Amino acid sequence: MGRSYNIVSVPGDGIGPETNGAAVRVLQAVAGKYGFEPKITEYKAGGCAIDAFGVPLPGETLRACMDSDAVLLGAVGGPRWDMIEAERRPEQAILGLRQGMHLYANLRPAVLQKELGNVSPLKNPGDIDMLIVRELTGGIYFGKQGAYKSSEKLFDGTRKGTVAFDTETYSEAEISRILRRGFEYSMKRRKKLTVVDKANVLSTSRLWRTLAKEIAKEYPEVEMDFLYVDNCSMQLVSRPSTFDVIVTSNMFGDILSDLAGQITGSVGLLPSASLGNPGMPGLFEPIHGSAPDIAGQKKANPIASILSVQLMLKLHLGEKDAAESISQAVRKTLADGARTPDIALHGDEEDKSKIILVNTDEMTDRIIANLE
Ligand code: IPM
Ligand code: MG
Repeated sequence: MGRSYNIVSVPGDGIGPETNGAAVRVLQAVAGKYGFEPKITEYKAGGCAIDAFGVPLPGETLRACMDSDAVLLGAVGGPRWDMIEAERRPEQAILGLRQGMHLYANLRPAVLQKELGNVSPLKNPGDIDMLIVRELTGGIYFGKQGAYKSSEKLFDGTRKGTVAFDTETYSEAEISRILRRGFEYSMKRRKKLTVVDKANVLSTSRLWRTLAKEIAKEYPEVEMDFLYVDNCSMQLVSRPSTFDVIVTSNMFGDILSDLAGQITGSVGLLPSASLGNPGMPGLFEPIHGSAPDIAGQKKANPIASILSVQLMLKLHLGEKDAAESISQAVRKTLADGARTPDIALHGDEEDKSKIILVNTDEMTDRIIANLE
């Protein structure tokens, strides 16, 4: 028998079913070529699970994901579920999966494809090829939060009214394990690591710095520097090609990865991998959201989801040749001029005459046809 993998597909809401459908099709096609078998089962999470079961993350979905080899996630959420109380919002599905599956390391590579130089909103983007390593199960996303009515007043006598709070909490163990991932990935790349924090204000950030300096001693070959997050967002725009690996907290990583995505052309291009300890199932998803405004119209760019399959094969299942086949097919398809709307509306007139405007399914068909 050939290699077989138990893959759970969680399409979710909005454009999720369209982009995840594309990813599943590419996975099946590449598996046929490279002689392995993905056994794919589909489960609900997010708004569609609220509609069907009353909860964003049904127990059977979480169990299936925990029992799988890997999860392919679409996106969750949409205006229909925006009025629901916090604990039952669709986003809780993603947070619950990350926490329940102990996926503390989120890898978000941002690479500017050569063919898309003119799609970047930056004038001279250079060779952007960075990896954001985002802590994913700690920090302000999972710290103590709440709201209460206060009888206190501001300095000028105004009543405070309702007070809400979120807490950034990080332990030494949580910070150390993600920093180590950052060092390990920089060793495999250009050996440059930027630790991003707000150590001039936050005590959690100061703990990150202390631990980073300690762990750096184990990796003498890695050139490590520190940047405050505000400065980092500036530098990502002014000198993006100088970044190699960035390691940062949950919230800073969320914000910086959208920025990094957009300077490579579109958030519709960026995949991500969420990993726990070795041997545990991983989760692979595009960094973009459910984009309810274009849902169901076949306008969504499937490349972020398709490259998430590529990350799954390369980083998690050890199917390196199949992964390379997908990367190559995406490059070729872009070089042929195929563009979904998010990456078509840029460039000068000459560039525009060379592009072929395609929808989600056509982009996917072309990528499948280009698999080697
Ligand atoms: C992301 C998303 C999620 C996050 C949301 C949907 C909870 O923005 O994966 O970047 O904030 O982590
Ligand atoms: Mg985000």
